[in-house]
Amino acid sequence: MSMRMSLIEVQVQVEADFAKALADLTSSLEHTPTAVQGSNDAVNDLPDMALVCSSSGVSKQRNALKLTGPFRSARLIYRAAEPEELEDQKFFTKVQQEPLSYQNANVRLSKPQSSKSGKDYLKFVAEEALIGVIICLPASEEGASHTPIGIIHLDKLAPHITHHRFAEIGLELVTAYQGQGYGSEAIRWVLQFAFLTAGLHRVEIRAVGYNPGAVRLYERLGFKREGLIRERLWFGGKWWDEVQLGMLENDWRALQEQETK
Ligand SMILES: CC(C)(COP(=O)(O)OP(=O)(O)OC[C@H]1O[C@@H](n2cnc3c(N)ncnc32)[C@H](O)[C@@H]1OP(=O)(O)O)[C@@H](O)C(=O)NCCC(=O)NCCS
Repeated sequence: MSMRMSLIEVQVQVEADFAKALADLTSSLEHTPTAVQGSNDAVNDLPDMALVCSSSGVSKQRNALKLTGPFRSARLIYRAAEPEELEDQKFFTKVQQEPLSYQNANVRLSKPQSSKSGKDYLKFVAEEALIGVIICLPASEEGASHTPIGIIHLDKLAPHITHHRFAEIGLELVTAYQGQGYGSEAIRWVLQFAFLTAGLHRVEIRAVGYNPGAVRLYERLGFKREGLIRERLWFGGKWWDEVQLGMLENDWRALQEQETK
């Protein structure tokens, strides 16, 4: 038997194993509820398995599907932002018009924001970000709309620097939904997207010095404090530092391993 023949045989075997594992997974997914209405544990309802291809063939690996699942996390759904939809234009304007959130999320001049500013932000998130989604609470009954509670996006590198494979997170939650763990959940979700789907190597996030709670939160989620730009920001009549934080793909993978232990 030639080496060429045995390689083909190996390939056929791997493909057969893969097809079988895929069929098993598809069959278990068919028995998984697709609607997440009213469920706080939507992701936990999913089968705890995913296909993993390696040089030794195809296997199922526990927990991996949680990291590669659909556009939702335990309590939240992430949907595309629609620049032409009036509902989304109003939502983005509402978010921009919450002064405290705007000041915390933005280093732009703090002033009343127009509906045009909301539309511009929507257009940026929908069309120019690497990913930009509306964070929603699932509808409580079938046919009802999900409730938008925030926005999260990863910016996109200019074409001449995409090889560096980093991106920065931007996010805001509507004030009424802050402080309930939704921000943490959405950040975890976008990190998973960044490293497993978009193939990024590094994710960055910045916080203004007058928002120490955000810095604490990001460090708790595993971001490392990497830089402090002294007195970069003028706000409320005084100078504030800007804090830069980052997470590498390997940091993230180590956290996943710790969490699944
Ligand atoms: C910052 C933000 C995304 C955090 O999401 P969240 O769902 O409110 O936060 P969680 O409930 O997951 O975590 C709570 C932690 O976030 C911190 N935090 C930061 N800003 C907060 C805010 N405006 N309201 C409540 N908690 C806030 C809290 O201090 C808390 O940490 P602590 O327990 O150590 O004090 C959200 O509060 C928000 O959108 N704020 C306004 C805009 C903003 O600051 N964007 C971030 C730009 S870097």
